[in-house]
Amino acid sequence: MSTNVDPTTSIDAGRLLRRIAELAAIGADRLGGVTRPGFGAADRAAIQYLRDTVRADRLHSTVDPAGNLIIRGGARSGDRPVLLMGSHIDTVVNGGRLDGSYGVLAAIEVLTTITTSGPPTRCEPVVVAFANEEGALFQQPFWGSLAIAGGLADTTVPAVGVEDHSLSDALRLAGGDPADIQGAAWPPGTIESYLELHIEQGPVLERTGARIGIVDRIVGRTVFDVEIHGTAGHAGTTPMSMRRDGLATAAHVILAVQRIAAERCLCRVATVGHISVAPNNTNVVPGRVRLTVEIRDTTTESLLVAEAEVRREIKEISERTTVPISVTVTTRVDPRSTDDRLRALIGDAADALDLPSVVLPSGAGHDAQIIAAVAPIAMIFVPSVGGVSHVPEEHTADEDLVAGAQVLLHTVLRH
Ligand code: HGY
Ligand code: MN
Ligand code: MN
Repeated sequence: MSTNVDPTTSIDAGRLLRRIAELAAIGADRLGGVTRPGFGAADRAAIQYLRDTVRADRLHSTVDPAGNLIIRGGARSGDRPVLLMGSHIDTVVNGGRLDGSYGVLAAIEVLTTITTSGPPTRCEPVVVAFANEEGALFQQPFWGSLAIAGGLADTTVPAVGVEDHSLSDALRLAGGDPADIQGAAWPPGTIESYLELHIEQGPVLERTGARIGIVDRIVGRTVFDVEIHGTAGHAGTTPMSMRRDGLATAAHVILAVQRIAAERCLCRVATVGHISVAPNNTNVVPGRVRLTVEIRDTTTESLLVAEAEVRREIKEISERTTVPISVTVTTRVDPRSTDDRLRALIGDAADALDLPSVVLPSGAGHDAQIIAAVAPIAMIFVPSVGGVSHVPEEHTADEDLVAGAQVLLHTVLRH
C-alpha cells in the first residue's frame, strides 16, 4: 500500500538471533540436532517459551483448538483485515534449528517492531506457529494449517499416541481442545494475505549468489504407505526357490521408485524414506515390510503420472515375486502458486534494502500451500549453506537471517 516506507525501519537483529539460539536449545538432542516433533514434550516447552517471550514484548498469545499458537499485537479487534505471517516450530527427528522456527521468530520480531515502533499498517499483522507441520510422530503433516484452512476432512482427533500421551491429551496439554477442532478454522475471507519466511532447504539460492529468494511455486506431494506381505522363515532351511522375501521385494520397489524420478523424470523427486522390517533378525527370512513412498512435483499432472507409475511398478513387482503388496495414499497435497502482487511487494522490499533477489520454486512443502486454499500467499527464502536441511548441519549465515526478516518487515509495511 505505502511506497514511502522508510528504508531504515529495522527489526532488532540481536534479539532475533538470540531467540533463534534460545529456541534451538529446546529439544536439542545428543546428535547435535533438534528433535522437537509436533505435540511432544519439547514442542510444548517451545510453545511455552514463545508465549513467555511474546508476553515480554507485550504481545498477546492464544492457542487455538488444533494447537496452533496465534500471536497478536493487541486484543482481537476485528476491524482490520488480517495479514497472517508465520511458519511452524515442530521439527523432524534430529533436524536443524532453522526449518520453521526461523520464520516464526522472524514474524514475531516483525510484529514486535511494528507494534512498538513501526508506522501504522493497513492490515492487522498476526503471527501463527502452525502445529505439527512435519508430522514426525503424529503422521498428519500440515495438521495446524489444515485446521485453520478448514481442510481437515475428519475433524475428530485420531486415536494415536504421541510420546507418553494420547494425541487428545497431548493437544489438551498444549492448550488445544480436541472436542472443537473445527473451531480452529478461520471464516472465509478473514485472511487478506499470508506471508511465510523460510530457509530454502536446498542449494539453488546459494548458487545464484542472491540474498533473497521469492518463491513462485511450491511442490505438491503424494505419500504412500506400502505394505509388503512376505513370508518369514528360517534363513538356513528355506530354499531360495521357495522364499517370499519381503525385504528383497522391497529392494525392487525402492529402486523402481528411484528410477521414476532419477531416470524417467516423471516427477522432480521420489523417495523411500522410512522402512520397517519384521521380524528384522539376522537368521530369519524377512516377512512383512512397510515402507513409505513420497513423490513431489510442481504440477498436479506430473504427480498423477508418477503416482500411476508407482502403482503399476509395484503391481508388476508383486506379480513377478508372488509377494502380495498393498498400497495406500496417506497424504495428497497440491502444488500451489504464490500471488503475483505479493511477490512484487517482496521484490520491491528487497530492492529498497539493496538485497539481490531471484525467483525460484520451493522443493520443500510449507504451510503456505495449505493456506493458499483460503488466501493469497507468498514466501521469502534465505540461502541454506550447502543446501542441507532436515539434518543438524542446517545453517544460514546470520546476516542472511537478518536480511530475510528485514524483507519480511518491509513487505508487511508495503502491503
Ligand atoms: O517435508 C517437507 O517438505 C517439509 O519440510 N515439511
Ligand atoms: Mn521441514
Ligand atoms: Mn519447514
